[in-house]
Amino acid sequence: MMKNVAVLVGSLRAASINRRFAEALAKLAEGRLAFRFVEIGDLPIYNDDLWAEPPAAVTRLRQDIAAADAVLLVTPEYNRSYAPALSNAIHWATRPWGQNAWAGKPAAITGTTPGATGTAAGQNALRHLASSVGLDLMIFPEVYWTWKDTHFDGSTLTDAESAKFLSGWIDAFSGFIDRHTKVAA
Ligand code: FNR
Repeated sequence: MMKNVAVLVGSLRAASINRRFAEALAKLAEGRLAFRFVEIGDLPIYNDDLWAEPPAAVTRLRQDIAAADAVLLVTPEYNRSYAPALSNAIHWATRPWGQNAWAGKPAAITGTTPGATGTAAGQNALRHLASSVGLDLMIFPEVYWTWKDTHFDGSTLTDAESAKFLSGWIDAFSGFIDRHTKVAA
């Protein structure tokens, strides 16, 4: 059966290039991996007191992660680091204590910026947090993506060379998830 990937996009803005990039990856992955976008924009800022009456958005997040075979984190780069919406979601799903939803899930990180370094600094900062909550990260191959409007029509990739490269990365991620599943079985 096709593996499903929970996709968390760190940018909440409507015109986000990271969302468009993630949607383009989802289209490229069709038939190999099913990408399911996880809503993180309605999560409150992490506050331990809220567990007294868990917000519906938190319960839903934990269910979405539990149902996923794998996780893809797509982050913009903010001041050489990752987006706060992502870290907020990551912290929420590590709790309640002893019920960390991320533990042992195969995962990958990517992201895009118009800047030449393609979110390299942001992604590398996120690796530390993602691995410390127990995500099993695919470190190689990496995709640090410099956004060019001319390569996209909405959220469809129109540049053939880019599509070939990103399709190869999806194959690698799919293989990583399969190997992980075999080891876990
Ligand atoms: C940025 N941006 C940015 N870009 C980059 O390459 N390196 C960086 O360190 C930063 N820092 C940064 C901080 C803050 C607060 C903002 C709002 C933006 C630019 C960023 O890559 C650009 O705005 C992207 O369009 C953000 O991604 P979304 O929202 O379009 O997905």
